[in-house]
Amino acid sequence: MAVSLSTCYGMRAFPSFECRSDPDFSGPEIPTSDGRSRFTSKISKSHGSLGLSSLILRFPPDFVRQLSNKARRNCSNIGVAQVVAASWSNNQPPKSVATDSANGSVVEEIEVVNPLSFLSSDGSLAIHAGERLGRGIVTDAITTPVVNTSAYFFKKTSDLLDFKEKRSVSFEYGRYGNPTTVVAEEKISALEGAESTLLMASGMCASTALLLALVPAGGHLVTTTDCYRKTRIFIETILPKMGIKATVIDPADMEGLEAALEENNVSLFFTESPTNPFLRCVDIELVSKMCHSKGALVCIDGTFATPLNQKALALGADIVLHSATKFIGGHNDVLAGCISGSMELISTVRNLHHILGGALNPNAAYLILRGMKTLHLRVQHQNSTALRMAEILEAHPKVKRVYYPGLKSHPEHHIAVRQMTGFGGVVSFEVDGDLHTTAKFIDNLKIPYIAPSFGGCESIVDQPAIMSYWDLSQADRAKYGIFDNLVRFSFGVEDFEDLKTDILQALEAI
Ligand SMILES: Cc1ncc(COP(=O)(O)O)c(C=O)c1O
Repeated sequence: MAVSLSTCYGMRAFPSFECRSDPDFSGPEIPTSDGRSRFTSKISKSHGSLGLSSLILRFPPDFVRQLSNKARRNCSNIGVAQVVAASWSNNQPPKSVATDSANGSVVEEIEVVNPLSFLSSDGSLAIHAGERLGRGIVTDAITTPVVNTSAYFFKKTSDLLDFKEKRSVSFEYGRYGNPTTVVAEEKISALEGAESTLLMASGMCASTALLLALVPAGGHLVTTTDCYRKTRIFIETILPKMGIKATVIDPADMEGLEAALEENNVSLFFTESPTNPFLRCVDIELVSKMCHSKGALVCIDGTFATPLNQKALALGADIVLHSATKFIGGHNDVLAGCISGSMELISTVRNLHHILGGALNPNAAYLILRGMKTLHLRVQHQNSTALRMAEILEAHPKVKRVYYPGLKSHPEHHIAVRQMTGFGGVVSFEVDGDLHTTAKFIDNLKIPYIAPSFGGCESIVDQPAIMSYWDLSQADRAKYGIFDNLVRFSFGVEDFEDLKTDILQALEAI
């Protein structure tokens, strides 16, 4: 079910990353180049159970001068919270004097209460100082902080009970959620028009968790012939252990889909669109109508499309899946996978995922967030380069066939034009030659890396017969349409003319 953007923004599972508020905070005091404060807030004297961030904000602009040498040395390298902690570990609880920013005269003397005074040893301080009882959280950082924690604490048992009995929301354990990851999930939900998104450790983690959660033991699913090999292996060899059967249809075989829905109690139609590596396109609107009329769900693996080129949920799919390792991350530096859809469906998968345990590392979530800031720029460029190069390759005498949904010759071009706003950055093609000639072409390329992935800033090329299908005999590869001369080219964000020159010179060399 698709939802509007305005709906999905309000549907986060946890509050977004928020700073712990300080009731006394009236603006930071930032020393200017002349040593004066930019803000002139007077300092109140209500200490009570101050958190560390409160203490920090109570220091006058020249507070550093009152700290120990050790703290002062550290000051240029580390944050304010650590400076204060360093002064404690030097057995010098900070005393502070409030000064008038205009003339530097003393306004008020403040006795700073050390909230960690119950900790008496350096060892305990090393663990808790700076972090316990309120951190100095940076409220105005442009970027989302990486929260590297495996668990979340509750100040007291009643807070834990409030959480357990749903009177309050909180994180609990790293496998169940993380604030950095939630921000990335919300970003993907916004692009997909989804109520909810679940990020996981890889694309395979996302597809296996989804299949296990949404197809019951003894159930039936429908999938398509052309797809990522490991997904096919999971469907063909692991799901049968739970008595789950699959009907495999050609992406265009709507009669086959109709028959499979008629003859079996199908729970799920799971397909890529475009598919890997032939970029076949499934009519998402049509298959969704067909499946829904028989009570089956539809999941589209839209990795090749990206959330920008294709809105699978708006077209009628129930869930859209991505290997975020590819275009979403976009920098060939992180593994991740995600599913987006209604809160109800995603929660069903989330509950199983909490047991299976393929949680995304928060540092990886940050890389996803960082990568996504340029997703639209990268995808526009990659769409354009891929389409222009697909046309050039199709006209080249040393290229036998090109597979790209943006080409009129593509079997589902008419569907792609209807449901995609761009055709993606990957082009597959067959060189006019055998395994060795094709390898020679690849080895003559200077820009792309020979590697198994796609969707990143760096162009990547691979020969599926030697990469993902190398363990199969030539005859077995042919059953999947993988011939020795097939090349999959993922266009990065390099200059179009450079890529064109490189590909043409490599074709010349064979
Ligand atoms: C279409 C598609 N889906 C899923 C995956 C699996 O993603 P990951 O490598 O992030 O596990 C891949 C991997 O190449 C893929 O091509």
